[in-house]
Amino acid sequence: MPYRSVFADVAKNPCAFVLFGATGDLTRRKIVPALFDLSLQKLLPEGFVIVPFARRDKDDATYRSDLQAALREFAPHLPADGPEWEEFARHITYVRSELNDLQGYDHLKKRLAELDKEYHFQGNCIFYLATPPENFDEIITCLGQSGLNKPDRAGAWRRIIVEKPFGYDLESARRLNTDLGKVFDESQIFRIDHYLGKETVQNILVLRFANSIFEPLFNKNYIDRIEITVAETLGVEGRGNYFERSGITRDIVQNHALQVLTLVAMEPPMTLSADAIRDEKVKVLQSIRRFTPQEVARHTVRGQYGAGSIASGENEEAVPGYREEAGVDPRSETETFAAFRFSIDNWRWAGVPFYVQAGKRMPKRLTEVHVYFKPAPEVLFARLSYGQLQPNKLSLRIQPDEGASLQISSKTPGPEMHIQPVEMNFKYGSAFDVPIRDAYERLIVDAIRGDASLFARNDEVEAAWSLITPILEAWRDYSCPIFPNYAAGSWGPEDARDLTCRGYVGYSAP
Ligand code: BG6
Repeated sequence: MPYRSVFADVAKNPCAFVLFGATGDLTRRKIVPALFDLSLQKLLPEGFVIVPFARRDKDDATYRSDLQAALREFAPHLPADGPEWEEFARHITYVRSELNDLQGYDHLKKRLAELDKEYHFQGNCIFYLATPPENFDEIITCLGQSGLNKPDRAGAWRRIIVEKPFGYDLESARRLNTDLGKVFDESQIFRIDHYLGKETVQNILVLRFANSIFEPLFNKNYIDRIEITVAETLGVEGRGNYFERSGITRDIVQNHALQVLTLVAMEPPMTLSADAIRDEKVKVLQSIRRFTPQEVARHTVRGQYGAGSIASGENEEAVPGYREEAGVDPRSETETFAAFRFSIDNWRWAGVPFYVQAGKRMPKRLTEVHVYFKPAPEVLFARLSYGQLQPNKLSLRIQPDEGASLQISSKTPGPEMHIQPVEMNFKYGSAFDVPIRDAYERLIVDAIRGDASLFARNDEVEAAWSLITPILEAWRDYSCPIFPNYAAGSWGPEDARDLTCRGYVGYSAP
């Protein structure tokens, strides 16, 4: 496919951006700052209007000033008080309605027709579902019944962006896919996983397939194990009610961590088209071995944090345990930490364990992939007094301090033959003199351009749930560990460290 400039693509796709969940947290923290920053970079089409569609009784002026306050709070680097904001805010028009009131959608339809005359978005429309998942069903149904899912003229398009959580388990994910499929064609559906919008996550494919030195080694012959860690210092941040039903496995592992895993493990796609990439990702997800309930006990560890302390700048801040958080059951069995030892039963990865772990209230915020290569034979240096040779390790730092490093063995200077591991380090921050933008910006631009490569497809989501659901069910059916089993500010329960030593079940067993 010839290279097409993103700016040119965006310019060709004027559209209305109808926002459900317009007064919610996600809109204030992520979506509006992303839209505003895109407008500052001239990455929104000229014909563009934002149409928040929400229950609360507001007019344009009050809604715009709410957003301005949100920008000051959540995106203080953006000029919320300058003329740029005034210009941006003129493109926001609030529509009030209950989310299940068909008349409200008819009104929206009329309003869009009027706004089209003013903003010239040529009938193109994105519906962005940033509400809690309980509202998805009624919104999708009403969009269908009102005919808003279909373009009002030839050559126009309609698209829907759906936020996570995309289902609660395999069955509910299938139901949601079916409901969406009744109203929208799969090509119109953009399921957001914001991890895919992160530069460093996209760079996994470039690193693997644009460098001839890594790919020949990326297989069971040279790789000993792969570790993927998503650690946050944050707790549940006032989202106790949500997290109680979700837990870290639904919140992070089923989506973000598995997305990273698929990119690390997939075969090279035939092209960079959305479907070619997603076909390969689905194959990885389908090749991960499903656990029996007994295997769940051996290959997974769950944890919940108790009170502890988290570093905050120079100081340590005391934080409560999960069970003390607002909205959380004082006897909650919800996991705030989970670790898994997955096996990918395909030719490339047979026998290579993939350790995936995610946790809240860890000592540091970091998302990293570590690829451990098999050690070099020790024959040559075995008699030296350097201790053991360290294996080569390729580390992909997804955040923070975005970049990659390769650990190699080197002779230390001096007359003795001493060997020590050293790092070759690439840092985004110093290699490129441009800031890394928020993942939402990239994803919104792609939805406007109609490029679904960085969005999850229906079969991909279902394949991820078909792996995770039996684990969640086994956890539900077996007795829970004694929670809390790690202190806030520590690296999770002891058992998680043991997971790597508990014996990896290779390709042929059990
Ligand atoms: C969200 C989860 O999807 O991702 C949050 O719901 C989590 O619980 C967040 O904090 C992490 O995203 P990031 O980009 O900060 O790693």
